[in-house]
Amino acid sequence: MKTEILSLLRERENYVSGQELCNHFGVSRTAVWKVMNQLKEEGYEIEAVKNKGYKLLNQPDILSASEIAGRLHTKWAGRKLYCLEETGSTNTDAKRLLEEGKPHGTLVVADKQNSGKGRRGRSWSSPKGTSIYMSIGLKPSFHPDKAAMVTLVMALAVAEGIRKITGLEAFIKWPNDVVVNKKKVCGILTEMNAEMDYIHSVVIGTGINVNEMEFPEEIKETATSLFLEKGEKLTRAQLTAAVMECFERDYEIFLAQQDLRGLLEEYNGLLINRGKRVKVLDPKGEWEGCAKGINEKGELLVEDEEGKLVKVYAGEVSVRGLYGYV
Ligand code: BTN
Repeated sequence: MKTEILSLLRERENYVSGQELCNHFGVSRTAVWKVMNQLKEEGYEIEAVKNKGYKLLNQPDILSASEIAGRLHTKWAGRKLYCLEETGSTNTDAKRLLEEGKPHGTLVVADKQNSGKGRRGRSWSSPKGTSIYMSIGLKPSFHPDKAAMVTLVMALAVAEGIRKITGLEAFIKWPNDVVVNKKKVCGILTEMNAEMDYIHSVVIGTGINVNEMEFPEEIKETATSLFLEKGEKLTRAQLTAAVMECFERDYEIFLAQQDLRGLLEEYNGLLINRGKRVKVLDPKGEWEGCAKGINEKGELLVEDEEGKLVKVYAGEVSVRGLYGYV
């Protein structure tokens, strides 16, 4: 009931009478009063005025199940939701939960990670209270060789979600970093548990820098947060729900053809490398060219010096701007 009362107070933006809440939820005045006290203890500022009712004045930025679920309008993405104050890695949690039989779309969100994982064996710094660390577990029926594409689907969803909630111009740095003002705000790590021709589970882990006020010296040049770019604090639960909604829609488009055909326009429209000269860091030898956009498999098409269009596959090579990260 706490989630529902919160949603109602948020929607109304004005006083909701105690009697209306009692009628709406079929509970006593004491029950409503108890929920209000619980919410106040959690940090919500609620004004109670005689003959008028309750009004939500301020809400803390907490990543709780009520905060997220109350804003989530999805069919399956995040409907089964675990919100943790602290964990090792949400990717590991989501994988375990799926193995235990939890459904496709199970979402694990944490306020802090003690062993956050980044790509290529790196770690992902995961301090408390400012970022979103979340992992969605999927049980797809497509072939394992298609799984890498879901990372691009998530990158698109994150960029769209950030744009929707903040109005900031978020772009994608191929294949799956999300950048604002040429600095990274989000990283994605997809892990798969599969046999040669059968997927048991895919976990897409997403870390979004939301309310950080500063970054360590070594990443300052390339990392930023939405707070630093926007100049105001954001509600992490709202962004989490928005990303899930975008992801569910985009994933279903992907699933219809089991490739990125239906998302090409959106993805390429947000691709920061598009039309830019890039350096392709191929282990067989670096070369430069002009990035044209991705194809339906998620490969980056780069025009080389001779005008030949070369398909660059994310698993094998990475791409940099000529003068830095983007
Ligand atoms: C990268 O290296 O860019 C990918 C970083 C992915 C970090 C996220 S945070 C939530 C999820 N849990 C993890 O341990 N890692 C991912």
